[in-house]
Amino acid sequence: MSKWLEGRVVENRHWTDALFSLKVAGPKLDFEAGQFVRIALDEQVARPFSFVNPPGDPLLEFYGIVVPQGPLSPRLAQLRAGERLLVASNPAGFLILPEVPPAQTLWLVSTGTGIAPFLSILRTETPWQRFRNVVLVHAVRHARELVYQDTIRQIAKAHALRYVTFVSREAAPGSLSGRIPAAIRDGRLEKAAGVALDAQTSHVMLCGNPDMLKDAQGALAERGLRKHRRRNPGHITVESFW
Ligand SMILES: Cc1cc2nc3c(=O)[nH]c(=O)nc-3n(C[C@H](O)[C@H](O)[C@H](O)COP(=O)(O)OP(=O)(O)OC[C@H]3O[C@@H](n4cnc5c(N)ncnc54)[C@H](O)[C@@H]3O)c2cc1C
Ligand SMILES: NC(=O)c1ccc[n+]([C@@H]2O[C@H](COP(=O)([O-])OP(=O)(O)OC[C@H]3O[C@@H](n4cnc5c(N)ncnc54)[C@H](OP(=O)(O)O)[C@@H]3O)[C@@H](O)[C@H]2O)c1
Repeated sequence: MSKWLEGRVVENRHWTDALFSLKVAGPKLDFEAGQFVRIALDEQVARPFSFVNPPGDPLLEFYGIVVPQGPLSPRLAQLRAGERLLVASNPAGFLILPEVPPAQTLWLVSTGTGIAPFLSILRTETPWQRFRNVVLVHAVRHARELVYQDTIRQIAKAHALRYVTFVSREAAPGSLSGRIPAAIRDGRLEKAAGVALDAQTSHVMLCGNPDMLKDAQGALAERGLRKHRRRNPGHITVESFW
């Protein structure tokens, strides 16, 4: 049985009108990097959010987008320092490295807020101990939505992170255009990352927009990669945000 723990907002950073990051003090939770937890303002409307912070950090961090007609996200975006946020006591989820079989290259592929669990994973030691290559892929509509640049720079300073971005709705120097599945098919993703994307070497974790998850799995299937299951090991692990 889960119970509600009371947290206090320490910071609500607004990256754009729609994108925000909440830092929350109070609840002490055991979780694996990549997991999520339900958060709420009142117990009637709770939603799962992935941890951005790695386990053991004193503050919890969540990265969100305002879905204009949504019951919770517009209210979360308006929270101010000092206000209350309820956090469930039972983090969960299988988008975690202990569920990933051995591979040479770990691909962390996200759209929008789907980057959140990967920022947590990348700030643990495990990916760097277990994989020869680690690639973070982030696709957004507009360049200003390429958030957490400082965090990503810090990770890249400490480790050999390969970071590939897509901006789909405007021209953006340094980012690929279009969508992830098309770039898997035509080889642009591999080329930008500088490593092979194949069933022999790769494990791919996908997170974010469910249509991307579906389309990317289709493109990966053409390269011989299939969904990973404990009883039938494969190459793809997914988490859908809606
Ligand atoms: C396992 C899991 C982890 C999640 N982690 C996060 C997270 O770290 N950050 C986050 O912002 N959301 C995350 N979500 C989504 C989140 O739980 C809410 O759905 C979202 O905050 C919107 O809440 P809402 O009540 O305003 O609208 P809802 O009624 O929950 O959603 C309404 C609609 O908004 C769209 N939508 C929902 N979430 C998103 C999103 N993240 N990006 C773009 N469109 C969306 C979908 O079309 C959805 O049908 C996660 C969901 C799941 C299942
Ligand atoms: N982003 C904003 O400016 C903004 C502002 C206010 C509110 N919102 C709310 O947030 C929601 C959208 O969130 P988001 O901006 O994170 O959007 P998203 O629609 O998930 O788009 C994020 C990235 O995923 C790509 N994508 C979408 N479908 C895909 C597919 N089938 N295969 C591969 N890639 C795919 C998008 O490409 P395409 O561009 O080609 O679709 C984009 O590059 C909206 O419903 C809206 O309510 C967004």
